[in-house]
Amino acid sequence: MFAKRSRPLASTLLAAFCSFGLLAAAPALAAGKLPHVVILATGGTIAGTGASSTTTVGYTAAKVGVDGLIAAVPELQKVAHVTGEQPLQIASENITNADWLKLSKRVNEVLARPDVDGVVITHGTDTLEETAYFLDLTVHSDKPVVIVGAMRPSTAISADGPINLYNAVILAGSKEAVGKGVLVAMNDQINAGREVTKTNTSTADTFKTPELGMLGYMQDNAPHFYRLPLRKHTSQSPFDVSHMTSLPQVDIIYGYGNDNRIALDAFVKAGSKGIIYAGVGDGSISDALKPALQEARKQGVIIVRSSRVGNGIVARNGEANDDKLDYVVSDTLNPQKARILLMLALTKTHDTKKIQQMFYTY
Ligand code: SIN
Repeated sequence: MFAKRSRPLASTLLAAFCSFGLLAAAPALAAGKLPHVVILATGGTIAGTGASSTTTVGYTAAKVGVDGLIAAVPELQKVAHVTGEQPLQIASENITNADWLKLSKRVNEVLARPDVDGVVITHGTDTLEETAYFLDLTVHSDKPVVIVGAMRPSTAISADGPINLYNAVILAGSKEAVGKGVLVAMNDQINAGREVTKTNTSTADTFKTPELGMLGYMQDNAPHFYRLPLRKHTSQSPFDVSHMTSLPQVDIIYGYGNDNRIALDAFVKAGSKGIIYAGVGDGSISDALKPALQEARKQGVIIVRSSRVGNGIVARNGEANDDKLDYVVSDTLNPQKARILLMLALTKTHDTKKIQQMFYTY
């Protein structure tokens, strides 16, 4: 149960957001015309409210609308011409394939407008990495797309939403972000949509690109890039979802000691077209599960071996004879991102050689 807020929403938000002294305009932008950045708000903790300023867990996500988010950070107007829309208002654990399709279509439409320079999407952090990768593969524009969330609700002491939103808008309006794919800007850091993952349940520095590293920093009202994503994305991606109303069913099963085939059999019976196996180690499969995966493949289900480890390449023909079994490996994609790519791959082909190539390309 969540207690009622003790202060009116508007004053609580303004107090939280205006505690940042961010009045200086970005130097690079100050000389010219301000970029037009459209904020597409979808809910999450960045739009969440708690019972008090010290409530940082047990709050309610997705309460503040896009106008409230924009109004609460007046500094935004100094760095961009900002307008907003509200395509979704959800806690991100509820995001669906239909929501991703809707969001992708809207981002493509908005970016096609000549008066728009970039898009910011405010999003819950729980599935933010999946949305980032989905858009990285389905938005066909070089204009910046920046996804941002917050780990503390808007009503909390030191809420991270205002500074994160401010930085995201600067990044989305910057020339430096053009052509770099979907970016995630939080906690003063810039990460690539394909690579970023949530690494901590609750701390503000949760979004990281383990081992491969972030792309750069947001500092002093400007982006500073040091690396580039090499995998193909956005305008180089072939996945066109503009006319789609659904995506193929792809599910994830998890490897663990003493595991069994019950979940896999249930998914196959329920119509799964693809299974991501979040395997132990390098995608190793227990003897209890091996026959079930092979049977699923013989029934036409595409099997992708991923790993629950969180880092590293799943080696093709390493812990399983993928050539013989006709399996695909996820390369470095974690299971939830591998699910995104397999859903999109299945809209194009069921040829496992072609799907494997996609996992090495995107
Ligand atoms: C959500 O993902 O919507 C809730 C959690 C968060 O945004 O941090």
